[in-house]
Amino acid sequence: MNKQQAKTRIEIIKKELNKWAQAYFDQDMTLFDEQIRDQLKKELIDLESQFPDLITKDSPSQKIGGQITNTKFEKVTHKTPKKSLADYFSHEEIQSFLKKIKDFSDSDTFEPLFVEPKLDGLNITLWYQSGQLVRALTRGNGKIGEDVTHNIKTIQSIPRQLQESIDLEVSGEVFINKKDFEAINQTGETTYANPRNLASGTVRQIDSSVAKERKLQINLYAIGENNLNNPPQTQSDLFKILDQLELPHNKEFKVVTSAEDLFAYLDYLQENRESFPMQLDGVVIKLNDYALSQKMGYTAKTPRFAAAYKFPAEKVVTKVLDITVQVGRLGTLTPVAELEPVLVAGSTVSRATLHNAAEVTRKDVRVGDTVVIHKAGDIIPEVVEVLANLRDGSEKVFQMPTLCPVCNSQTETKLDQKQTRCTNPMCPAKSLGALKLFVGKTGFNMDGLGEQNLQTLIDHNRITDAADLFSLTQEDLEGLPLFKAKKITNILTSIQSSKTITLPAFLNALSIPLLGQQMAFNLSLFLETILKTDLSTQADLVALSEVLPILQSLSHEQVIDLDGFGPNLADSVVEYFANSFYQNMLEKLAQHNIQIQLSSQDNSSQKLQGQKVLFTGSLSQLTRNQAKELVLQNGGQLASSVSKSLDLLVAGEKAGSKLKKAQDLEIKIMTEDEFLKLLG
Ligand code: IVH
Repeated sequence: MNKQQAKTRIEIIKKELNKWAQAYFDQDMTLFDEQIRDQLKKELIDLESQFPDLITKDSPSQKIGGQITNTKFEKVTHKTPKKSLADYFSHEEIQSFLKKIKDFSDSDTFEPLFVEPKLDGLNITLWYQSGQLVRALTRGNGKIGEDVTHNIKTIQSIPRQLQESIDLEVSGEVFINKKDFEAINQTGETTYANPRNLASGTVRQIDSSVAKERKLQINLYAIGENNLNNPPQTQSDLFKILDQLELPHNKEFKVVTSAEDLFAYLDYLQENRESFPMQLDGVVIKLNDYALSQKMGYTAKTPRFAAAYKFPAEKVVTKVLDITVQVGRLGTLTPVAELEPVLVAGSTVSRATLHNAAEVTRKDVRVGDTVVIHKAGDIIPEVVEVLANLRDGSEKVFQMPTLCPVCNSQTETKLDQKQTRCTNPMCPAKSLGALKLFVGKTGFNMDGLGEQNLQTLIDHNRITDAADLFSLTQEDLEGLPLFKAKKITNILTSIQSSKTITLPAFLNALSIPLLGQQMAFNLSLFLETILKTDLSTQADLVALSEVLPILQSLSHEQVIDLDGFGPNLADSVVEYFANSFYQNMLEKLAQHNIQIQLSSQDNSSQKLQGQKVLFTGSLSQLTRNQAKELVLQNGGQLASSVSKSLDLLVAGEKAGSKLKKAQDLEIKIMTEDEFLKLLG
């Protein structure tokens, strides 16, 4: 980035951050997530350190806390300035903090550090005079705070009168527990974005009866002016003194004496953050020794002896470098945001699906935009929102292509822009994808035909559709790159032995748009009843040639009545069998003597009737697909995530977060053995 570009970007970010801070500190409103604020601030600081002469006094990087614009409360000058903490976002950054301490202390031993959770609330300072609570102030701009004593006095854990008649300035965090936040948000008229906002809004009420109802909490963690006989020499001393004075503090804290212990503690809090009653947004790390702390001193804004380690963001800011289009195995065109690579919840993300044209329009994602991304279900990267205020005018609006990027044929857009497809049944993108499904474990289950081999067969014109696989001969395969004699024999044997297939697997193998495994099964149940009456057969095997007329005569009305079928899926199924390209392919298949295996009535038990089942971890006796098929054959349904509506979780080896979630929700859990036993 050159200086002019940096200047423009800095101006835009500054404006946005200033707006954010004003809303946050003065109106208790969160314009966007705090983690996003932190990241924009980091980008600003990075740019300013590259171009220091672009730093201005009004930069959010130079300011502390809120401006005091509202004059509801008496303004009071703090006895000692209330600084903020410097933010650190990774273990590497914390290493640099440790190095600074080491350089400063000039000693070979690790300086003990006091570590405790960083509570996500608001900073409040209490003044005790001769043991009596006389004032409670907000941080305000760090120099001047607002007097909110009337509300702070509603906090039951704060003594109005200390046992000892001392003068003491003591600060801490006021917060509301998550459970109370949820209860208040449900009943109140205003919906607060998070517990911090609610706490802040409550502290700044004129009428203290509101605060009384809302169960404010406080944890103290710092002292200022005092006339203690034995003032603390370390942060651990301070916590002992707080105990003696019956002043509330974090129950969770630790003194660490090595870098390993420190990082282990950071990991421990991060992993367990959800189990705390209050919202945590990181870990505060302080030199335990006060004398050394004072020697290290402060920068204009922050102490050098303390750090706020912020938990890795689940929501991350990055830039859209381009929007490309992928063509899937059904010929569906999917727009994809190509991103400046960033770390999200532990792994680097450089692409995020934008799903379809309607979604791009709804989110208004443009090339060049600054966006917030997260991982949906903790796995799939997704654009959450566009930070449209950060645009500089150079962004480009995305248009869904009217021609397929793979084969240049016309595309067709349906369902309110929610679906764009390539109209060419022979589109290479489609054929490879469709072939993969056709030969895959949920379809014909053929061996030796991975993506690369299939691609070779297409490239060398050995097949044009899936049915051609069955006419492949030894000569067709000989001489193809990487097709050795043994492999050829294996492939041909496997193809020939996969000519018998169950009806659900057959339907799955066809790549009928929108038809997933569960719906293919439902459709197969219906088809089997027709087959059995029409053919009045008791046989288990039926030739595909006998099944085809039934498939081709399916009507929209028949299909839409099936369990779980909507109009779009019904259309898709009927259109598939009416399409001449697919009819031709199915005829060819029938000529290869494909046999459909019908499920024999005795086998189909209904032991899982109506139950939603999910598998997690690795199974040792069944493949995932066999397991899923068993569920369907026994009248059960397949679930895709753990929620309250799940009936059964089958947990294999190394089950992780899904198992934990199911335990939390008290959902029935079985091992693979128990599951197999149940189905007998
Ligand atoms: S010590 C010199 N300890 O984080 C500042 N702060 O980003 C002394 N905070 O203004 C702060 N939990 O509102 C400290 N255990 C903790 C904290 C904590 C939350 C807040 C506090 C501070 C802000 C700095």
